[in-house]
Amino acid sequence: MKLSHEQIEKSPLLLLAIVLVVISFGGLVEILPLFFQKSTTEPVAGLKPYSALRLMGRDIYVREGCYNCHSQMIRPFRAETERYGHYSVAGEFVYDRPFQWGSKRTGPDLARVGARYSDDWHRAHLNNPRDLVPESNMPGYPWLAKTKLDPQDVVPRMRALKRLNVPYTEQEIIDGPATLADKTEQDALIAYLQGLGTLIRIRH
Ligand code: HEC
Repeated sequence: MKLSHEQIEKSPLLLLAIVLVVISFGGLVEILPLFFQKSTTEPVAGLKPYSALRLMGRDIYVREGCYNCHSQMIRPFRAETERYGHYSVAGEFVYDRPFQWGSKRTGPDLARVGARYSDDWHRAHLNNPRDLVPESNMPGYPWLAKTKLDPQDVVPRMRALKRLNVPYTEQEIIDGPATLADKTEQDALIAYLQGLGTLIRIRH
């Protein structure tokens, strides 16, 4: 039996099945090559796995839900690159699991916020954003400055990432906790923020 266009359009289930096949094929053709392309799988020059301190900071960023208001992906449009700097490239995120690209921008994109402000600026801003930006609707996170990190906590986090092919050496994992002694959650979060997007520095 030869199927005519009309027969397919009049049979919702058949139409659905064929549409799904076509979309799946299109998806595979677009997505699969990305797993094998150098430009998406190779780290940009100078990219290193997160230090123990920055890794703890990243996990606090996730825990506090900063991504609900901040994206970390600059799109290749002029309005974006003029405001934030060079557009984001995939090679900047190869050690981010999960990545924090997001799309919700109640606040500005943070992909290149690293080194834009001083640590003291971030401390004041995280304690109470309105001290620096009176009209800000970002919540304050004053408890981060009062909460010490648990240094041992970083070990399983680094091990989990190592299992996902992040190239931590055994020595780095063993040395991790010692670098966190007496550090607060705020120290870690600021260390994380200060490194964001600093490897590609071209600004317009
Ligand atoms: C309810 C939404 C909201 C949440 C949640 C939020 N922010 Fe913000 N953030 C903003 C807004 C709005 C601004 C712009 C005004 C300002 O600077 O305070 C901002 C600004 C910033 C800036 C300055 C960016 C720049 O380029 O000037 C940083 C850094 C920042 N936020 C970090 C964080 C971190 C880290 C967290 C999580 C601990 C967080 N934000 C959570 C809304 C939010």
